[in-house]
Amino acid sequence: MSQKTLKQLAAEKALTYISKGERLGVGTGSTVDCLIALLPEVRHHIDVVVSSSERSTEQLLELGFKVLPMTDVESLTLYIDGADEINDKLQMIKGGGAALTREKIVAAHADRFICIADQSKYVDVLGKFPLPVEVIPMALGHVQRELNKLGDARVREGVITDNGNPIIDVFGLKITDPIALETHINQIVGVVTNGIFAHRPADVLVLATDNGVQVIEAK
Ligand code: 5RP
Repeated sequence: MSQKTLKQLAAEKALTYISKGERLGVGTGSTVDCLIALLPEVRHHIDVVVSSSERSTEQLLELGFKVLPMTDVESLTLYIDGADEINDKLQMIKGGGAALTREKIVAAHADRFICIADQSKYVDVLGKFPLPVEVIPMALGHVQRELNKLGDARVREGVITDNGNPIIDVFGLKITDPIALETHINQIVGVVTNGIFAHRPADVLVLATDNGVQVIEAK
């Protein structure tokens, strides 16, 4: 099956998790795009919607959803988002779409985080996908030098996040201790967020494969 079909299947399965009175966080990316397109089917279940990017917000508004700012909502019952890589502990690399900071903030408000992904995202060790790091502009040089001690740190050309910041992608990592590396990178002055989601992993992975959609719960 094509990757696009698998993303669609993951989104369809995730829709079945949305239940009455849901306060829903919506992530960002092409897998989430499939989910957003399906959301009108469960509109009657959804009390509140918050989004992790301007891109997703625009799509939700077009479908007639009222999107609240995160600051207006104390907690969410469910957050659904994609990932660039995810391991068997449901720790992830995210931020391929440059939305990592808002994604981490929305995830922090959610009782439950469901990750939707196709089989290509499920890995033994995180790090083949370059790790995104959002940086305060004036710290770009300093942060790049520090990240170069870990791998090959390259500024993502032509990309500024919804928060007005550049992204550095770190290539060539083999992340054997995701919690430690997430903590370490966050200590570098000028880093806003890094794309390791290990302190707050997903609770459920909906993984679309050629053999069907698997649901993997956090151990
Ligand atoms: C955006 C993200 C996305 O969840 C991640 O990049 C996956 O995207 P896609 O569903 O397009 O493969 O973290 O910042």
